[in-house]
Amino acid sequence: MEKTFLMVKPDGVQRGLIGEIVSRFERKGLKLVAAKFMRISPELAERHYAEHIGKPFFPPLVDFITSSPVFAMVWQGDNVIALTRALIGKTDSIAAAPGTIRSDYAVHTNFNLIHGSDSPESAEREIGIFFEPHELVEYEQII
Ligand code: CMP
Repeated sequence: MEKTFLMVKPDGVQRGLIGEIVSRFERKGLKLVAAKFMRISPELAERHYAEHIGKPFFPPLVDFITSSPVFAMVWQGDNVIALTRALIGKTDSIAAAPGTIRSDYAVHTNFNLIHGSDSPESAEREIGIFFEPHELVEYEQII
């Protein structure tokens, strides 16, 4: 079954939106398999956002993502990457469709509340950066 890495960023944590964001994925019917409330180090930020090194927004992005805690998660389900990206909305909050998390709660691309993996390759890489294999909990959904 497909897995994805999702992370409520410092702005989402500071604004008290962890519950609201997690609730949207729960109500969609997706399965939470790992979660961690943590502070990201500059080294971890560089690994996670390696593809953006050299871009103008990279230094402020690292400053921001390391500024206060994040809520890192792994979710599982059929097409979970595409489904969660649809619920999250486009990176630019102005372009995000109404009803998406970013449209409903974010006003700026730099403070867009949540990160979601964009491909199976990214998901595998990002899950491996944030979680040890034993931290992913296997269980049956019984209801
Ligand atoms: P995220 O999905 O976490 O991936 C990279 C982040 O960089 C992105 O969300 C935004 O928060 C931030 N960012 C800032 N400016 C840009 C930009 N021009 N293009 C893409 N991402 C940007």
